[in-house]
Amino acid sequence: FEPGLDDLLAAGVNSGALRFTAGVEEAMAASDVVFLCVGTPPAPDGSADMSHVVAAARSIGACLDRHHVLVTKSTVPIGSGRWLTSIVEDALPAGVHPDGAFSVVSNPEFLREGSAVNDFLFPDRVVMGSDDDRALDAVAEVYRPIVEQTFAGAHPDRRAPLVRTTLATAETVKYASNAFLATKISFINEIANVCELVGADVSEVASALGLDPRIGSRFLEAGLGWGGSCFGKDLSALVTTAGQYGYDATLLRAAVQVNERQRRLVIERMRHHLKIIQGRRIALLGLAFKPGTDDLRDAPAVEIAASLIRAGAFVRAHDPLVKAVPDCPNLVVAADPYAAAERADAVVLVTEWPDYLALDLAELRSRMRGDLVLDGRNLLDPGAVEAVGLRYEGVGRSTFTRESLSV
Ligand code: UGA
Repeated sequence: FEPGLDDLLAAGVNSGALRFTAGVEEAMAASDVVFLCVGTPPAPDGSADMSHVVAAARSIGACLDRHHVLVTKSTVPIGSGRWLTSIVEDALPAGVHPDGAFSVVSNPEFLREGSAVNDFLFPDRVVMGSDDDRALDAVAEVYRPIVEQTFAGAHPDRRAPLVRTTLATAETVKYASNAFLATKISFINEIANVCELVGADVSEVASALGLDPRIGSRFLEAGLGWGGSCFGKDLSALVTTAGQYGYDATLLRAAVQVNERQRRLVIERMRHHLKIIQGRRIALLGLAFKPGTDDLRDAPAVEIAASLIRAGAFVRAHDPLVKAVPDCPNLVVAADPYAAAERADAVVLVTEWPDYLALDLAELRSRMRGDLVLDGRNLLDPGAVEAVGLRYEGVGRSTFTRESLSV
């Protein structure tokens, strides 16, 4: 599920600009620039699993008979450019000399799920790194309509800076970007925890903080922690890379620890309010790792549901897009938020789907047997929740004192 993607695919297929084939050779014969976009999921030790990249590189190498530019779009560990070069060299057909047969460019991806098409067409920057200037020229040419904003539907005032650099620097920009964003969220979650202790309101703190352009207002929303297929994987890969050089990436490890602690907030709050979790009915609103997607990879909701179920709770959830959670067999996915809240002792808003702003709170109240609403994303209007006789609690803005603030 990705907004705008179906239309774009259909338009590309209809115009003939986009074709699909299962034959690597056929795709290579028709192109000069090859983008490697395969997944690099986390291996059990936290490093990136490169088996798909290896397989793709070998199949490309085996049919290289004229110069191609190979572009790594996949998030690959720092240093992969040279490593990839060696893999492709070893796969070249007999008689093809490696010198000049191909060039490798790193071109990291910065788009977000749920706004991928828009982020791609109107990027904040395009980064490319290589040791071969001519290869960078070729990739810059591919991006020209986006950088110069000349394609149909372009915004001429949104021209994007093009950063040309070395392989290792381009690869590092990707990890540093995600590490910074994840750290920024962990930072505001830590401030949220302090806000609760001192009686401050994290939403107001974040708004005031964000007015300083050195800080910026985006990615300062406190909640139940970050998730998704990128932040956790990329932070852990960066920590692993640093460790391989004997460097302990303390700040990055702390960002991960704060995130793990934040995800435990729901169970802590439930223990505080409901005391015994065993046999309680708890409703979760939102399962996807963020609104606008049906992606459940490293979704806080899945971990939260699993921990509540382990503690003996009966958990029902609702999500506008997710209809089943295969990794959590005892979690019931309800057809609507009210069915999820049926006889619930507490309702927890886990993903800030805008749909939940239109909740009929009186209806929700009438379905529940308890009265607690934990707004894990500070989405709802506390006054409106309390007006129907429910107890509202947000993150970083209630008077609740967390009992255990130790990591
Ligand atoms: C992230 C980056 O934002 C992209 O730039 C990057 O290209 C992508 O990873 C990737 O490496 O492929 P994405 O994982 O799609 O994109 O999602 P984000 O919008 O960054 O959100 C990540 C998580 O942070 C979500 O769980 C979201 O709920 C959480 N979040 C985000 C917060 O808790 N607070 C915020 O203020 C912002």
